[in-house]
Amino acid sequence: MKRVRLFDKEFEISIPYAELHSAIKEMAAKMITDLEGKQTLFICILNGAFMFASELMKEVELPDAEISFLKLASYCGTSSTGDVKELIGLNEEIKGRTVVILEDIVDTGHTMKGVKAQLIEKGAKEVKIATLLFKPDALKVELTLDYIGIVIPNDFIVGFGLDYDRRGRNFKDIYTLVKG
Ligand code: IMP
Ligand code: MG
Repeated sequence: MKRVRLFDKEFEISIPYAELHSAIKEMAAKMITDLEGKQTLFICILNGAFMFASELMKEVELPDAEISFLKLASYCGTSSTGDVKELIGLNEEIKGRTVVILEDIVDTGHTMKGVKAQLIEKGAKEVKIATLLFKPDALKVELTLDYIGIVIPNDFIVGFGLDYDRRGRNFKDIYTLVKG
């Protein structure tokens, strides 16, 4: 499928699966080197990162790795960093652990900044961020991204876990909104 229509919008293929797959394999190789022996807890941010996490974790051959899943809910209230998102479903003990957050995309960076701060507050020894996609032109906060799959322009995309109004998450490739 080269083009796809979701509701009122037209999308066109921009990152084929093969490209996503090789970026993920490369990231996994770096993680194996960096995280060997650390009993790392990987945390997949639902819903968007489910495909990325599944693909990545099959390549991260670390026998002492663990994976958990977190959903974020908008929190009533604001802070200086914008929306504070509540972490739902985190049952693991975080204290003293090396944690790697698995995120689909970093846009303004507010979400990742908030999640990282909360994990540090819960006592994590170190918190790293791994994002499949990064839009540097949209970044609005200071944020260190430890692992980046593919850098993309500031356009709206769907596929490989990312949605437009809940559609498109199941697409194997990534599609970009056709403007105009
Ligand atoms: P941030 O807090 O602005 O960095 O937002 C990150 C979140 O916005 C991601 O986890 C996505 O859920 C969503 N998002 C950002 N850009 C896109 C996009 O192009 N397509 C679909 N979702 C996006
Ligand atoms: Mg997301």
